[in-house]
Amino acid sequence: MIPQSFIQELLNRVDIVDVVERHVPLKKAGANFQACCPFHSEKSPSFTVSPTKQFYHCFGCGAHGSAIGFLMEYSGLPYPEAIEELARQAGMTVPREDFTPEMAQRRQQAASLTDVMGRAASHYKQQLKKNPRAIEYLKGRGLSGEIAARFGIGYAPDGWQGLRDAFDDYEAEALNECGLVIDAEASEGQTKGRRYDRFRDRIMFPILDARNNVIGFGGRVLDKGEPKYLNSPETPLFSKGRELYGLTQARAAIRDDGFVLVVEGYMDVVALAQFGVCNAVATLGTATTADHIHKLFRQTDRIVFCFDGDRAGRKAAWRALESALSELSDGRSTSFLFLPPEHDPDSFVREQGAERFRQMALASQPLSEYLLHELEARCDTRSAEGRARFVNEARPLVTQVPAGALRTQLLHLLAPAVGLSAQELAEACGLRIPRAGARIAHAPAAAPRTAPSSPARKLLCILMQRPALSARIGHLEDIDDDPWLRAVQAIADCVEHGDVEGGGPAALIEFFRDSPHGPLMKEAAASTLEDMAEESALPHMFDDTLLHLRRSGISKAIKRLTALSRQSGLSAAQQEELNRLIKEKAGT
Ligand code: UTP
Ligand code: MN
Repeated sequence: MIPQSFIQELLNRVDIVDVVERHVPLKKAGANFQACCPFHSEKSPSFTVSPTKQFYHCFGCGAHGSAIGFLMEYSGLPYPEAIEELARQAGMTVPREDFTPEMAQRRQQAASLTDVMGRAASHYKQQLKKNPRAIEYLKGRGLSGEIAARFGIGYAPDGWQGLRDAFDDYEAEALNECGLVIDAEASEGQTKGRRYDRFRDRIMFPILDARNNVIGFGGRVLDKGEPKYLNSPETPLFSKGRELYGLTQARAAIRDDGFVLVVEGYMDVVALAQFGVCNAVATLGTATTADHIHKLFRQTDRIVFCFDGDRAGRKAAWRALESALSELSDGRSTSFLFLPPEHDPDSFVREQGAERFRQMALASQPLSEYLLHELEARCDTRSAEGRARFVNEARPLVTQVPAGALRTQLLHLLAPAVGLSAQELAEACGLRIPRAGARIAHAPAAAPRTAPSSPARKLLCILMQRPALSARIGHLEDIDDDPWLRAVQAIADCVEHGDVEGGGPAALIEFFRDSPHGPLMKEAAASTLEDMAEESALPHMFDDTLLHLRRSGISKAIKRLTALSRQSGLSAAQQEELNRLIKEKAGT
């Protein structure tokens, strides 16, 4: 656990404008800064960063949050790591509460493993310079020195213990934990087997995490040999089901091009970059997972899969489709580019050029169409049996797509192929299609849709800007029935305890990150950017709103008690309460 006090201090120390500016160039616009949104593609800027509120908000896609939230979304970092990163930028060290010795050790270990990997990567880079055969190989594949440097490509020389040159202690446990060496089984009479380098005589492709740390390697043989590619094993730093090759290098291009290309191979990524197609990433010799897709949808709302034209590539495309379904909320799209059977992206871009490749990527087949054609190819829809099979195969796929416009469209597209109406197909899948015109429920209902003018909501909006005003609240009626009021009360408590000393919206949002009030507060903070009140008018607005709220709360309570008194009479305490309310109403 990271102590809240530290998070609050960190937010006081950093400026969200600097944090965002490192990744997205900002332009001053009045009191705020603006840019084209890094979280969706757009032509005119609707992404706004407020220095006074230390908060960002996109009027286009609704993304919003504090500096911590920005790093999480933009760099794909988990919460604690986003804080670590921000602290590093601010020159602060993250203290930890209830840090067990094992946890402290694990953290220390991860840091030292990262160190070891970084050292190995620079060693391999140095070795490449010294090895004409490896340089020739890369040149033969059309790579320039510049691209090799951009991807940090290196060479592991042919020798059993080449890493002895890079590490003082070749027997260190960390080398094994990183997967850089292999400890042979001890033979008879020995306590320990001989240790040797995992990667020998291979071109080395370092795999980076979001912070540019080397977390794994892929190594390719220069000539013929098995296996063609050798990858790092699963280690505390590296998990191939989550990582993508080239994402760090591709990030800016993904944003500029408005989509990401997913390919199968290391060389595909590098060769595409050599030809100026810089928005490509590769899975690491595994099927595309939902984790991969989730990670990519944080960067862009459009994914184009481009796998090899062979059978394996087709299979990989289908696996990618299966993993993508659950991530397909409205506004996101995935499509599939199928190359001619003899090609992979590397060979194709060399033969046909970048422009042709880009055109084909942009004209690639949408997931919905691919799904339809594939099901039709598998099931002979001319017979009733084939159509039933089609429905059976479609069911587990369609049901994974979150409810929304896209799922509805998918049902409409698939239904005619089996002679059903969309409604009938939906029923066969155990789903319901919203009738035309009916409101479609959005997947995560972030905050209850109260009219924007609801006084409770307004109170929260004002408090997000000036938490200190909560000292004026006193007693409120009927808090429990209204989530906005509960959030208001929560802020009042927090201010009273001095938990967010002097902090604004960003501080509150981080304080309430995991609480049910969090989404409401974020929405309130975002709407204050949209419709900005004069700072000086806030106290007056607050008092007005509070008064309004108190009056209506009292009226409601009076109504309830008088109704009760007519029905069953009141207890002495209730009668007293009613009298108090009536008196109070007269006074307000
Ligand atoms: P490919 O066999 O298609 O290789 O494997 P490639 O990318 O075209 O490589 P070049 O052009 O011959 O150099 C695609 C990906 O599958 C994984 C690697 O990640 C590779 O980039 N793979 C392949 C392995 O992990 N091990 C292997 O032995 C082969
Ligand atoms: Mn290839």
